[in-house]
Amino acid sequence: MRWPRPRLYHMLMPPLPLLSLIGNTPLVELTRLSPKPGVRLFAKLEGQNPSGSVKDRIVKAIVEKAEREGRLKPGDTLIDASSGNTAIALAMVSRQKGYNARVVIPQGVPPSIVDLLRLFGAEVTWCDSHAGMKGAVDEAQRQADANGYYALSQFTDEENILAHYEGTGFEIAEALPKVDAFVAGIGTGGTIMGAGKRLREANPNVRVIGVEPRLGERLQGLRSLSEGFASPLLDIGQIDGRFLVDSASALKMVRTVVGTEGIVAGVSSGACLSAALRVADRMEEGNIVMMFSDGGWKYLPSRPWDATEEDAAALDETHWW
Ligand SMILES: Cc1ncc(COP(=O)(O)O)c(C=O)c1O
Repeated sequence: MRWPRPRLYHMLMPPLPLLSLIGNTPLVELTRLSPKPGVRLFAKLEGQNPSGSVKDRIVKAIVEKAEREGRLKPGDTLIDASSGNTAIALAMVSRQKGYNARVVIPQGVPPSIVDLLRLFGAEVTWCDSHAGMKGAVDEAQRQADANGYYALSQFTDEENILAHYEGTGFEIAEALPKVDAFVAGIGTGGTIMGAGKRLREANPNVRVIGVEPRLGERLQGLRSLSEGFASPLLDIGQIDGRFLVDSASALKMVRTVVGTEGIVAGVSSGACLSAALRVADRMEEGNIVMMFSDGGWKYLPSRPWDATEEDAAALDETHWW
């Protein structure tokens, strides 16, 4: 029998090195979730990066800067503090480049993430969840100083912002003629600072909106600026608005987006969607771009989606990314 010729839906890709697949993530329109005909919602699907999150971009950028500056040699140990995605990205990039990876993570990170880290061969050090991200950052630096490890310092390295200015923001500006609002969760602030700056250059009237956990909630790794950990990279003056989202609403939106659009998004993506819908309410027309910084797959074993609103307090004990 003669086999039919395959149809070419995409540009064919030659085999490529894994790390070259970082970035250039798709921007997809969520047509079913748009609340008004004139308001269009777009999600930047960062879960498509090789280790599954936006953090591949910054880890690659920071490590390659250190390499250019001659500060790394094969077999060196890289360390950073993270509640999930940066740790996974660090483990993946280290495997590709021949480094050892160590990560300091706060207690409460879901076991599925720790399993993934160990699978990648990363050494995991726990730190007390009450010490928060600051405690984890301090512990990573302490270990780096004591053992000669290379500390990535995603919370202070300007390369974090640059990776989003040259990558994330550039890609969005190229993909859409005009962005009226950009909605991103705030962790280190790298995404919102870098991509926000690039989008403001393209449209000075863009509204750059940050998403934070509601005060008192440890919303899944998003940092609350009111709780005393302000990332040194964050310049609040560059942000036009901040929305507070609680765990239950973020998880509800995660269910909504998979149920309506078929996208398995992570918890911070749900938080961004929740904020974006509130931004949409205040607009008659325009394009809103949301960061979907990771996919939801790795959280599945913890079954956060099953939680009811009454379980919200328990959810706050877990770091989802
Ligand atoms: C899933 C997810 N969303 C949002 C963020 C926040 O991004 P940034 O650190 O660039 O502010 C992070 C950072 O850890 C993340 O892992």
